[in-house]
Amino acid sequence: MIVLGISDHLSSGAALTIDGRLVAAVNEERLVRKKMVIGFPWKSVETVLRVGGVQPKDLDLVAVGSRWGHFLPEYVDFSQGVFGVDEGQIKNLFFSMGSALSFLRETMPFLEPLYYNLRQPVFMRRRHQIGKLLRHTFGIHCPVEFVWHHYAHAASAYYASGFKDALVVTLDASGDGHSSHVYDVTDGKWTYLHAVPSFDSLGNYYAYITQICGFLAGKHEGKITGLAAYGEPSYCDILRRFITYRDGTMVNVGNAFRGSALTKLRKALPEGWSREDLAASIQIVSEDICTRYIGHWRERTGKRNVALAGGVVANVKINQRIHELPGVDAVFVYPAMSDEGLSAGAALAVTAKAAPELASAGRSCFDHVYLGPDFEETEIAETLLAEGIPFDHRPQGEKDIARLVTNGYVVARLNGRMEYGPRALGNRSILYRPDDRSVNDWLNKRLRRTEFMPFAPSTLAEDADRCYEGLSGAENTARFMTITFGCTPAMKKSCPGVVHVDGTARPQLVSESDNPSYYRIIKEFKRLTGLPTIVNTSFNIHEEPIVCTPRDAIRAFKEGHLDFLAMGPFLAKGAEADERVEAAKLARGS
Ligand SMILES: [Fe+2]
Repeated sequence: MIVLGISDHLSSGAALTIDGRLVAAVNEERLVRKKMVIGFPWKSVETVLRVGGVQPKDLDLVAVGSRWGHFLPEYVDFSQGVFGVDEGQIKNLFFSMGSALSFLRETMPFLEPLYYNLRQPVFMRRRHQIGKLLRHTFGIHCPVEFVWHHYAHAASAYYASGFKDALVVTLDASGDGHSSHVYDVTDGKWTYLHAVPSFDSLGNYYAYITQICGFLAGKHEGKITGLAAYGEPSYCDILRRFITYRDGTMVNVGNAFRGSALTKLRKALPEGWSREDLAASIQIVSEDICTRYIGHWRERTGKRNVALAGGVVANVKINQRIHELPGVDAVFVYPAMSDEGLSAGAALAVTAKAAPELASAGRSCFDHVYLGPDFEETEIAETLLAEGIPFDHRPQGEKDIARLVTNGYVVARLNGRMEYGPRALGNRSILYRPDDRSVNDWLNKRLRRTEFMPFAPSTLAEDADRCYEGLSGAENTARFMTITFGCTPAMKKSCPGVVHVDGTARPQLVSESDNPSYYRIIKEFKRLTGLPTIVNTSFNIHEEPIVCTPRDAIRAFKEGHLDFLAMGPFLAKGAEADERVEAAKLARGS
């Protein structure tokens, strides 16, 4: 059974499943070079069909993530985050009305259903238009199903987790009127347990605080998670007057939404409030709400495995706390956890419904997440020549990369198929030594990034216990850099460049079966240095999506003034490489 999955809103994209196995997936942002772009995924559909070797006539079903939403044939700019998006006059009017009238919600419970009912004609138009577009533009004539937003998230988490029995929880800002769903799944049999309305969204509050701290809501929440470790959680009581846990759910006790929430929160903060302390406070409040909420449903169901998806679980610290909950044996966070993962989730959901025998209960729907496009050696070489970049042919490239990193060079790497999801996992990554504490400052400056969490470590899976504490039950999800762990004293001492000020790191555990080439680089680096870990940061520059093509890679390599560019079997050297490494050695006095 061949299913094309589509998501057409935030971080839109497409995915292809064959008999319940995910064979290709990509997000539009990588192809049109606009981060988290919103709108119909024209190029993603074309790409997954090509990469998967499938013709439109071969498709049995198309699954679209989300039932409610506007038809957006043109891309919508998300560069200024949630509050910078022009969502159209009608939607903005509804948002303003909802925000202004939110205080009436308890006394007038019919207002919320009324809001969604008024918008139904717009949602129906989208469903009609998408079907028409698929027929006329892509020649896709099979049936099209629209999957509820949170069920698509949940299906992605469960069918990728490899769990047979699990508590499946979704947590995000908002989708189809909800911000969370809870399911009990036993051997592939789903029981819906609970939903939290969008109005009571924890994800929204995290986004409001992101905006108040001077960053972009919906885009920069990760900066707040990193910044939190530098502050004191002194405003938790204030935040709990807005969003709190109560009786197995989350409640927007502040009765605030979007514009009114920003205003009320700003007013509630003391004069001269600290950005670090506010970040620490929303982080603690969020961890507290999520652990109490999931703890409640875990106890109710007796499930010991937890599968998670949704934008809130992009928060690696929240995931650590969930993993540490009493009674949780194993946790799995879907690697494309935010809305970029909806296309695959929708495809998996409809497969499970149409052909339950193909739904992979107890077996993950993928072996790895290198599910994007790949590029032929000839294409890479031709692009390097066309861009006037001198290069060498190095068939033993992994050894060269390990040697260069050992010698203090920064190596940007494009190899094989692009990763699916927000993390670069070795195929579109920038690599460096983990023992240089200062790397986060100078390399982020060079890449024009502001980050408060250190770069992530890629560690050989067999050495994970030497480096991290409390791994048990999270080894699988740690293949995708989705969770933090406390670092061992040996790790803190030997690899300070990847350890946060709170003593944690968010590793990618690399095994030979997941990525043989990347594994060989780290293995060789370990042979040369004794360190089983390498710095892995995504290959992109300021506010751009991770590179996809050789041309994107060359551009980022030049703009970032990086030392080496390794693409397939080819190696190119940056003009300033030796000068930079010599200057760094002098500065260190070595
Ligand atoms: Fe979502």
